[in-house]
Amino acid sequence: MTTAYVHGYDARERQRLLDQAASLVELLHHDTRYPAGSRVLEAGCGVGAQTVTLAGNSPLAQITSIDVSETSLAAAAAAVQGAGLGNVIFQRADLFDLPFASQSFDHLFVCFVLEHLAAPIAALQALQRVVRPGGTLTVIEGDHGSAYFHPRSARADRAIQCLVDLQGRSGGDALIGRSLYPLVSSAGYADVRVSPRMVYVDASRPALVEGFTKRTFTAMVEGVREAAIAAGMTTAEDFDGGIADLYRTAEADGTFCYTFFKAIATLPR
Ligand SMILES: C[S@@+](CC[C@H](N)C(=O)[O-])C[C@H]1O[C@@H](n2cnc3c(N)ncnc32)[C@H](O)[C@@H]1O
Repeated sequence: MTTAYVHGYDARERQRLLDQAASLVELLHHDTRYPAGSRVLEAGCGVGAQTVTLAGNSPLAQITSIDVSETSLAAAAAAVQGAGLGNVIFQRADLFDLPFASQSFDHLFVCFVLEHLAAPIAALQALQRVVRPGGTLTVIEGDHGSAYFHPRSARADRAIQCLVDLQGRSGGDALIGRSLYPLVSSAGYADVRVSPRMVYVDASRPALVEGFTKRTFTAMVEGVREAAIAAGMTTAEDFDGGIADLYRTAEADGTFCYTFFKAIATLPR
């Protein structure tokens, strides 16, 4: 049920994921802390961009981080070791076919994974099996339809739409953030609460201009250039113009907005 991963696994994408995590740590993680002794499963850890924060913020919790990509797991293990953290175990595993006994964990953490899956509800249900009743689920996703910026640009909107369409063709949903509440509820979780986490960037926040507008969002859209042209969705000229206009929003008089969505729910007792 895993679909082709639209962003790929190369070094540039690895750096983009790390930049993304660094610029968003407070916004996305400030209310996630796991108690001493709790067992946490991070599904789809990628290169460990969230793992480092998870493990650092809950140093007495035991984190198990899984991914289907060996390359990403190796990078994640290096990142965690580099941060001097010793409370993470990495394991190659498919979240649809988890090699863990029922109720092996107290908490689940899933970030930027469901958007790439053709069957996100089935994924949440598969994860449910390995968590004890009364445990928690935390899911964080973006929604590329939430991107708006100044100066406005129809070319930039079209370039973003290329990413949305390519992700859709791979079976994913780049607009998944807005539907987290119905997704998590219909997967059978209880007490579902979703909070929007808006990133607003202007020149008074230079770290976000670099870390979010340029190196996270625009780099992500830029990353699908070849695929979008090959698919006949755009021309090189129109796409490159759209990317130039996205970078233009990072100049002194530009602004950029994007909303992430964080769902917290409990496992039914
Ligand atoms: C966009 S990355 C997000 C990584 C990390 N959670 C983060 O926030 O930076 C999505 C990750 O999900 C992983 N993934 C996709 N399908 C999976 C599956 N069925 N089981 C486990 N991991 C999966 C991919 O290999 C990729 O590393």
